[in-house]
Amino acid sequence: MFKKVGVVGSGIVGQTLANGFVGHGYAVMIGTNTPAKRDELNSKTNEKVSVGSFEETARFGEIVVLAVKGTAAEAALKAAGLANLAGKTVIDTTNPIADAPPVNGVLQYFTSQNDSLMERLQALAPQARLVKSFSCIGHAFMVNPDFKGLRPTMFICGNDEGAKAEVKAILDLFGFEVADMGRVEGARAIEPLCILWCIPGFLANSWTHAFKLLKG
Ligand SMILES: NC(=O)c1ccc[n+]([C@@H]2O[C@H](COP(=O)([O-])OP(=O)(O)OC[C@H]3O[C@@H](n4cnc5c(N)ncnc54)[C@H](OP(=O)(O)O)[C@@H]3O)[C@@H](O)[C@H]2O)c1
Repeated sequence: MFKKVGVVGSGIVGQTLANGFVGHGYAVMIGTNTPAKRDELNSKTNEKVSVGSFEETARFGEIVVLAVKGTAAEAALKAAGLANLAGKTVIDTTNPIADAPPVNGVLQYFTSQNDSLMERLQALAPQARLVKSFSCIGHAFMVNPDFKGLRPTMFICGNDEGAKAEVKAILDLFGFEVADMGRVEGARAIEPLCILWCIPGFLANSWTHAFKLLKG
């Protein structure tokens, strides 16, 4: 029996993953704290996803997805309610993109190299079982990516092995191979992959690629 998924975040990533989980048989709620977006979310998910607040969505989810703007991620976790996340697998899709423009196509981050947004979120919600995932690929390729038969690699990390196993099974279902980069500090390497992924987009309007880890 599939678990219930609460997707905290109403942007394109939240919508894409909410629809993706529905397509794979899960019951899904998507969360926004902007009531004016509720009608739009109903139509973007063909009424197959229920819509709630961040708090209602975190409570609904047996698995929770965090898909909010990086600068708002800590506030969003608090709004979702730390008690509602305790013991749950929380799929962290966020990147710490600063409110400053890219420099020659290179995104600016508000974290430094020996820090990551995921570590801040895990420290804020120590009882949540965070797993970094979906952060290093564009939303168009997050569900059933089609690269002519090749499975793209999704880099993940997190402190809880059980939560990572749960996310690995989801990624397998969604069409990825998984590269486990260890504990939460692995996010210091995974989050910047978004910077790399976006450079061809900003410089040459090329957004249709994915990472693949080759192993000898
Ligand atoms: N776009 C991509 O292809 C892509 C790929 C990989 C990873 N990511 C990462 O995924 C996350 C979501 O990206 P996105 O493109 O879907 O949309 P986004 O615009 O980065 O995030 C939208 C969500 O952030 C919330 N939000 C924005 N400002 C807020 C604030 N001040 N306080 C509380 N909540 C706030 C919004 O809340 P409301 O619902 O209340 O409006 C909404 O739910 C980001 O961290 C991004 O870096 C994006």
